[in-house]
Amino acid sequence: MNSISIVVFISGSGSNLQALIDAAIASQFPSSSIALVVSNKKSAYGLQRASNANIPTLVFPLKPFRDAGRSRIEYDLELSDTVAKTLGSQLDVGNKVYPDIVVLAGWMHILSAEFLNSFPKSTHFINLHPALPGAFDGAHAIERAFEAYKQGLIKNTGVMVHKVIPEVDRGEVIIKEEVPIYDTDTLETLEERIHKLEHVLIVKATKILLEDKLNGRS
Ligand code: GRF
Repeated sequence: MNSISIVVFISGSGSNLQALIDAAIASQFPSSSIALVVSNKKSAYGLQRASNANIPTLVFPLKPFRDAGRSRIEYDLELSDTVAKTLGSQLDVGNKVYPDIVVLAGWMHILSAEFLNSFPKSTHFINLHPALPGAFDGAHAIERAFEAYKQGLIKNTGVMVHKVIPEVDRGEVIIKEEVPIYDTDTLETLEERIHKLEHVLIVKATKILLEDKLNGRS
């Protein structure tokens, strides 16, 4: 079987990307490779992490589109096209090659339906979200959970990795785990506990996707 290609989308420090890189180096991703790291921010430290691991990178900022009055959909479609052309040129084939798995690891943009639909059905998108399903969809999930805890509304929060569908943070859950919150917690101690679990779950979820692909289940 050809190598399964994984593309990782980031916007920030890339600690989750690093967990994936470390797992790949430790041969936890059978018959696959992280073929490309995409960032919308050229300042994202995750790009350095990719380069350190000899993984090709693509920086694709939104600002030039905004400055030119071009829409998010145009950005999304050109992003999709550029990813496929980059993979195609890596494999030295003239045409576009689409990845098997796209992992959104701290990618800050909501991806449009047009973007998702521009990939073949065989491409699976997964997103890491630092909350339990349906609890704190969208941005600042950790802070919002911490506030809710302080108001006595919740006892714990969690982390999930889910398939990406056009409705934000609402795709089928692949893996999730609760994270306790303690009275002694600060936002920082809670964030640290959550990030540690993210690094575990993002690898586990990617392995689940890979094994499904290798076993022809997806
Ligand atoms: C993670 O907490 C992720 O859940 C959130 O953004 C953060 C990315 O962190 N969406 P990193 O860039 O992987 O370190």
